[in-house]
Amino acid sequence: MTTLPEIETLIPSPPKSTTGTAPGKIILFGEHSVVYGRPALAVPVSQVVATCVVSQAPKGTGVKINAKDIDKQYQVTDEKTNNPLRVAVQVALDYLDKSRFLDDITITISSTIPMASGLGSGAAVSTAIIRALAQHYEQSLESRIISDLVFEVEKLHHGTPSGIDNTVVAYNQPVFFQHAQPTVPLRVQEPLTFVIGNTGIKSPTHKVVGDLRRRREANPQCYDQMFDKMASLAMTARTAIETGNLAHIGACMTENHQLLDQIGVSSIILNEWVEIANRNGAFGAKLSGAGWGGNMIALTTSGQAESIARALSMVGAEQPLITQVEKGY
Ligand code: PMV
Repeated sequence: MTTLPEIETLIPSPPKSTTGTAPGKIILFGEHSVVYGRPALAVPVSQVVATCVVSQAPKGTGVKINAKDIDKQYQVTDEKTNNPLRVAVQVALDYLDKSRFLDDITITISSTIPMASGLGSGAAVSTAIIRALAQHYEQSLESRIISDLVFEVEKLHHGTPSGIDNTVVAYNQPVFFQHAQPTVPLRVQEPLTFVIGNTGIKSPTHKVVGDLRRRREANPQCYDQMFDKMASLAMTARTAIETGNLAHIGACMTENHQLLDQIGVSSIILNEWVEIANRNGAFGAKLSGAGWGGNMIALTTSGQAESIARALSMVGAEQPLITQVEKGY
């Protein structure tokens, strides 16, 4: 007669799989000026998420990527050596001290974060991949390490990234960020409700950053003055966030938007949407991320959020998101 433990050994155990996730993000203050060493504030957005599942695959499979959203499967080594997904896998395997691409695993990636829209899609996908691989190899990685690894991938997306995207996404908490300074968690005194309106206009960060760099090189003094003003708004807003002064945070946001417009990274639509949000009772509003397209954000109350979202929908925002940053953190 076969005993129970023997039966258990006859049943193949399900293939091991591990899951890593990462949120989207919005920049509240300091996009662009942060590239030039000024401070910036950013918060995660949990309504949108990147997910990566790593599962053991049959022998001989190699390292396979299954990009669910585009229904594509391929060997990671078929990608160019500078492909961001390949590099994310590579930096993770190198750090985890695993032989490059020799194991048999399938890496399934999906994301609800719109790409090239200022919501941190690239950083979130890389973070999810690195988290899932670390779990697969039963290692735990600190947020700081994950952030540093994602930064390596961000260089491919952005050219000269400031590091804010990888930081806020990997730490998954509101942050006060400045280049070459330790990352400081941002204390939120009063819950912050944001409406996020996506223009649907894709705007690759490296193009906007590169264009601004050329214009700044031609006139450094003028641009540096504007970056200084953005820095001082970020500092003022930090205090307002830490003391729960929503009206003041909002006023700083709208002022930051005007400066972003002056340095040439806004657009007619973004300017119009900022005005619409403010007319509909927002404390303040601004573009968020690289600009030219992508997203605008409006700070409001939970009671007012729906009506601002409706007003933005009427002018073409694709399913505006309402997100809340909780008190504390
Ligand atoms: O990639 P985005 O749209 O989240 O923009 C990043 C913010 C910038 O300041 C424009 C670039 C950077 O590296 O910080």
